[in-house]
Amino acid sequence: MNQDDQKRASAQAAIDLIVPDLTPDTVLGIGTGSTADLFIDLLAEHQDKFYGTVSSSKASADRLTKHGIKVFDLNQYSHLGFYIDGADETTPELALIKGGGGALTREKIVAACAEKFICIADESKWVNTLGNFPLPVEVIPMAKTYVAEQLERLGGTPKHREGFVTDNGNIILDVHGLTITDPVAIEQHTNHIVGVVTNGIFAQRPADVLLLGTSTGVVTYTR
Ligand code: 5RP
Repeated sequence: MNQDDQKRASAQAAIDLIVPDLTPDTVLGIGTGSTADLFIDLLAEHQDKFYGTVSSSKASADRLTKHGIKVFDLNQYSHLGFYIDGADETTPELALIKGGGGALTREKIVAACAEKFICIADESKWVNTLGNFPLPVEVIPMAKTYVAEQLERLGGTPKHREGFVTDNGNIILDVHGLTITDPVAIEQHTNHIVGVVTNGIFAQRPADVLLLGTSTGVVTYTR
């Protein structure tokens, strides 16, 4: 299977996993990115089986709405059965880097509200140590220079994602060259820098299940 087939197979595996547990009251958390898009398209066929969704981005909300799937504000429904989303990197412990699409803050909030976080990804995302993918950090615009200096102290090289504004009106610094051997510590440390909204390490709240599309099929990892 090529990368697109792996993403599709992973998304289909997530459908197969959740559909038996859907009820007319279920509200699902939905992530962002090309794998999440494939999941949304497959989910559309099952929309009579659940109540609606909460989305982690405007882009995913638009896609859900186009399929006729209800999208709610998280403040209306903050207890979600499942959160389904992709990742830029995942370790065997299911710690993730996310935010390649810039939706990391909303993704982290929605993931926090979910009983089960199901990560869907192709095998290019599998790593032993996080950091080869530049770590996205969402930053309040006026703090850009200060935060960049603090991130350099961590040993990384932050680069401003030019021309990109998050759904929250902020900027992204992508931090290159980090070797993240202690993801929980780096996640906490980075989040404590004044001016950081959040960073793309999902280790304090990792995925619960990883459905990894590989060249020979989908492999399931559970934490
Ligand atoms: C968006 C994300 C995505 O989940 C991540 O970038 C993976 O994207 P894709 O499924 O397109 O490979 O974190 O902010």
